[in-house]
Amino acid sequence: MKLTIVGTGYVGLVTGATFAEIGHQVLCVDNDAAKIEKLRRLEMPIYEDGLDPLVRRNVAAGRLAFSTSIAEGTAHAEVIFIAVGTPPGYRGEPNMSYVERVGREVAEHMTSYRLLVEKSTVIVNTNEQLRRTLNKYLKQDVPFDIASNPEFLREGTAIQDAFHPDRIVVGVESERSAALLREIYAPIVERSGCPYLQMNTASAELTKHAANSFLAMKISFINAVSRICELTGADIDQVAHGLGLDRRIGPHFLQAGVGYGGSCFPKDVDAFVRMGEELGYPLDLLKEVQKINAAQREHLMRKLQQELWVLEEKTVAILGLAFKAGTDDVRESPALYFVPRLLERKARLRLWDPVAREKFDLAHPGLSYAETPLECVRGADAALVLTDWPAVRTANLAEWRRAMRCPIVIDGRNVFSPAQMAEHGFTYHSVGRRPVAPPRPPL
Ligand code: UDX
Ligand code: UDX
Repeated sequence: MKLTIVGTGYVGLVTGATFAEIGHQVLCVDNDAAKIEKLRRLEMPIYEDGLDPLVRRNVAAGRLAFSTSIAEGTAHAEVIFIAVGTPPGYRGEPNMSYVERVGREVAEHMTSYRLLVEKSTVIVNTNEQLRRTLNKYLKQDVPFDIASNPEFLREGTAIQDAFHPDRIVVGVESERSAALLREIYAPIVERSGCPYLQMNTASAELTKHAANSFLAMKISFINAVSRICELTGADIDQVAHGLGLDRRIGPHFLQAGVGYGGSCFPKDVDAFVRMGEELGYPLDLLKEVQKINAAQREHLMRKLQQELWVLEEKTVAILGLAFKAGTDDVRESPALYFVPRLLERKARLRLWDPVAREKFDLAHPGLSYAETPLECVRGADAALVLTDWPAVRTANLAEWRRAMRCPIVIDGRNVFSPAQMAEHGFTYHSVGRRPVAPPRPPL
């Protein structure tokens, strides 16, 4: 089937490449000409495991192409997926201007039936707004449908998630759109055996926001418990293990740490809170989730500040700039919180990340980067672990101990064990676990 994806970012590009792989003829459209040029040269604009070979294979097979033209995209396919960004806008509600613009432009170019599918995360009932937009801007009297098909892709494992989803959710209002979406997804449903849920459009839109808010709530819950652990001597890893084995709770998303980040959770929880306010049902539960998340970063900052006392002239090694391992995405990453605060206090920073350096440099130009974790901690007065990259997890701690000026590690991801750090003589603070006592001064 011919398909158009508008918005060729983390979601749109993975979705387009996946659809091509299962046999569809996909045109990926983006208004960023430089991005489209790059893709035409087969250079990936993002780091995502397995994406490069997938794109190459499908371009070579003639199933995947790129364009900057919405007119071409509208002509190419009956089904058009909208995967443009919905960044946070004024007062926390998502900025829907890109989605609206795509709706307008598609309407102006439509000459026969089209199905517009919301792939971007949108607030409930966006479908009604899109419908109004299309009705306003259509140049010819042609039929159309709006559907919702939220993505649940995690960056870093997005391709695996796309081929083996936990479920596919589609929200439709007509049999015609239902049949089209069923046909598009049939190969994935067949291969993975995943449940295919068809519901009305508002329910599909809401499912996405509810899922992300619930996961964020799970993380804030375990982070709140981690604070109680620190105050009582309980160990968060053991508590989380004990909790997660209850099948009603499940073991996932119970990793305490520096708090959730990324392009989705912070924005989606914000949007959900805002929507509740507008509907007259304030979601105070989620406001608490946000507070706990923010407090987690502040708490780690305090630990660092207490250890170093004065930050001026101290070298702090920052390990991890991406919002989580496996991606180069720095949107709402913990590093974006810590770096300005440490610079304000006149600390000297040395940064390391295996893939996110380029994107971080765009946000904070002119900082000093190291090529390896060991280089990053060399001569540092403290190291701050913000992303659980394998290269940090498997670091040679004896080497770190020798390289650092002061053996202080503040671990926002619990990548090391307190016992291991004590053995190597580190002053070690992690999340929800007892701090390790500073090493004894030599006799
Ligand atoms: C997506 C979803 O759109 C968002 O709602 C969801 O919550 C997270 O995933 P993502 O793919 O991460 O966003 O965003 P990004 O990588 O910024 O990609 C969006 C793309 O849309 C960019 O390439 C941008 O150039 C493009 N775009 C934006 C257009 O093509 N047209 C526009 O009008 C605006
Ligand atoms: C998320 C959703 O999982 C995905 O379904 C959605 O469609 C897009 O948003 P993503 O943002 O890529 O995916 O990352 P995810 O793996 O969900 O992690 C989000 C944040 O939570 C990261 O900052 C991560 O470090 C943090 N996290 C996750 C924790 O702090 N603890 C955990 O146990 C899990």
